[in-house]
Amino acid sequence: MISVPESSAPPADPAVANDYDSFAEAYSAENEASLLNAYHERPAMLALAGDVTGRRILDAGCGEGYYLRQIREAAMQHRAFDSAFASTKVQLCGVDISKHGIRVAAKRDALGHYAVASSADLPLADRRVDALLTHFSPVFVDAFARVLRPNGLLLVGSPGPEHLFGLKQLIYDDPQRHSSPATFDDDAQFMLMKTERIRYQLSLNSSRDIHNLLAMTPFFWTADEATQRRVASLATLETSIDVIVDVYQRSP
Ligand SMILES: C[S@@+](CC[C@H](N)C(=O)[O-])C[C@H]1O[C@@H](n2cnc3c(N)ncnc32)[C@H](O)[C@@H]1O
Repeated sequence: MISVPESSAPPADPAVANDYDSFAEAYSAENEASLLNAYHERPAMLALAGDVTGRRILDAGCGEGYYLRQIREAAMQHRAFDSAFASTKVQLCGVDISKHGIRVAAKRDALGHYAVASSADLPLADRRVDALLTHFSPVFVDAFARVLRPNGLLLVGSPGPEHLFGLKQLIYDDPQRHSSPATFDDDAQFMLMKTERIRYQLSLNSSRDIHNLLAMTPFFWTADEATQRRVASLATLETSIDVIVDVYQRSP
């Protein structure tokens, strides 16, 4: 069993953690129940993890733990009326530098192990993890290689070039596309197995959904107040979702 102290380690960089905490407060429970569940790339990314039965899974930079809860629910469907077995079906662990995120994640998944810690310095023993996922969170190749077992899976989800470009056009005079995420298949510790690009057009027609999308978008918070007000008052918003998921295997 993975032994991870809950919310024990201090954030690696308190200044950075505080920034994330301020965004995280805006990531309310309501956001997750509505808009985030409509993010089709999330189930698609989870499908790439394959059968997780009996596995130890780590989400590095887990935020409020949405992915881990989806995995827990999938595992529990096999024993829907027997939650005592749920912890042996799959062992879930989440790490984030945001105290807020970890507090929420731990509250919502009492069977999981959650820690406030940096993904650069994971509070896990070597080779203990069967699958590690990280979504829109920093990647630390050596730290991930250390905790993954030989042949274990690493899933890295990153924004593709068009991600939220429609929203950026409303905020910036000269919006820039994301550059393609760096891969590290030249690193002897990992082999790139496949890359999937998940793209679709998101049309929002309710001011609540628009507000929720803005609240979870860091570049919105960097815009000046007049721009924030103008964008928040829109009745409709069209933007593209573009996520690239790289699936690696830890070398034997
Ligand atoms: C855009 S959010 C993504 C959260 C979650 N993976 C999701 O997709 O909903 C980025 C997350 O990375 C976390 N983070 C940033 N730097 C980190 C680090 N060095 N170690 C662990 N987590 C980190 C932030 O606190 C934040 O929760």
